[in-house]
Amino acid sequence: MAKLRVGIAGLGTVGAGVVKLFAGGHARLCDKLDLVAVSARDRTRSRGVDLSAYRWVDDPVALAADPSIDIFVELMGGAEGTAKAAVETALSRGAHVVTANKALLALHGARLAQLSEKHGGKLLFEAAVGGGVPMVKALKEAVAGCRAHAVTGILNGTCNYILTEMEASGRSFADVLAEAQRLGYAEADPTTDVGGFDAAHKLTILSAIAFGTLPDYDHVRIEGIERVSRTDIQMAGKLGYRIKLIAKGALTEQGVEMHVRPALLALDHPLANVNGSLNALVVDAEPAGQLTFIGRGAGEGPTAASVASDLIELAEGRAGYPFARPLAQLASPPRATPAERGRYYVRLMVIDRPGVVAAISDRLAHEQISIESFLQMPAGEEPAVPIVLTTQACARAPVEAALKAIQALDVTTEAPYLMPVEQPAVRFGR
Ligand SMILES: NC(=O)c1ccc[n+]([C@@H]2O[C@H](COP(=O)([O-])OP(=O)(O)OC[C@H]3O[C@@H](n4cnc5c(N)ncnc54)[C@H](OP(=O)(O)O)[C@@H]3O)[C@@H](O)[C@H]2O)c1
Repeated sequence: MAKLRVGIAGLGTVGAGVVKLFAGGHARLCDKLDLVAVSARDRTRSRGVDLSAYRWVDDPVALAADPSIDIFVELMGGAEGTAKAAVETALSRGAHVVTANKALLALHGARLAQLSEKHGGKLLFEAAVGGGVPMVKALKEAVAGCRAHAVTGILNGTCNYILTEMEASGRSFADVLAEAQRLGYAEADPTTDVGGFDAAHKLTILSAIAFGTLPDYDHVRIEGIERVSRTDIQMAGKLGYRIKLIAKGALTEQGVEMHVRPALLALDHPLANVNGSLNALVVDAEPAGQLTFIGRGAGEGPTAASVASDLIELAEGRAGYPFARPLAQLASPPRATPAERGRYYVRLMVIDRPGVVAAISDRLAHEQISIESFLQMPAGEEPAVPIVLTTQACARAPVEAALKAIQALDVTTEAPYLMPVEQPAVRFGR
């Protein structure tokens, strides 16, 4: 059988990694696929791999339109512009597309799936979520016979690295971020990562597959890790928790709920010990039960390996629908925000003077909030001292109301910081 011809647009971290797998003669890849053409912005730049065997194409959209290419591999990035135009061009002529572009899929996944179904080219994107961890294939295939209730993940390696380093070294968010940027673990503009947006792109994709819904990025409630302080990390530790940026999609009675936010995890939570730049996903599905997937979430090797697995899937004729089901079967999730109930962590920076603690307790009691633990740091040189408390299980709205009332007391020096304590994941078979 003739080999499928592959064209790769984007020769950065991921693209160069995929070219290296072809150049190295990886058997399962090279037996059925031929890399024939490549494209990037700068033809003169060294990519750490010999490109002379491949046709160079300046314009990625022209490469996507080239009828001699069976599979167009998009590894440029960006939700709009060239990446989107190139992927649409390839799908519109019935070519297969493999991409690692989570932003593109989160924002335009439904339209791309439509082009895929209409013209017959497959669209695969294992590398877009979890780097080398097969999260997409796990949801599409491993739990295909299940009903998924929740997907809970650590999906951004940069945030996880920063939080892990803050805990290990006792340094501030700003310090660790600056170091991560120096080491190349964080982008010069870190907003997409630390603001939670990258994790939200990935969660959008995972939720669509897990719950059989259209990808709906605008529905994700997003909060980043910028406000997590040294104090929070230390206090969470004293209370028996670890802080993680959690991306969670859950099927509730109101519909699908999706959020990305920092949360406190008890140390026996399956995600509590996923540290450094690792990514992980916990899937709660019936009747399989709870499944955990963990591994390296980014970088040349893991991500290129995921792209290669998509290419082999195509070559072996195993690829199905982009989001596991035909587009017509994907539901539009209702946009209701469920009333949240759980335990909460609160940090208040208060002026150290008599009566303040009593006034705070009074405002909490007024909203019927029971306190589980209450920690006050000793007064130092600073005018404000941190007070940290955790609540017993309660609705979120009264906690927010109490914090508003506390702010009105004029004893705090900055806005209170509220984080949920992550519920233990659903456990089956008990
Ligand atoms: N890096 C990771 O670990 C990782 C993990 C998972 C997913 N991803 C996703 O994989 C994709 C690629 O990421 P990356 O880290 O490999 O990016 P990168 O290192 O910045 O490389 C991007 C490549 O795309 C090329 N490019 C960008 N815009 C172009 C344009 N308009 N025309 C032609 N070429 C263009 C660049 O060309 P020049 O080199 O000539 O400038 C470069 O070769 C992104 O969607 C990213 O989100 C990355």
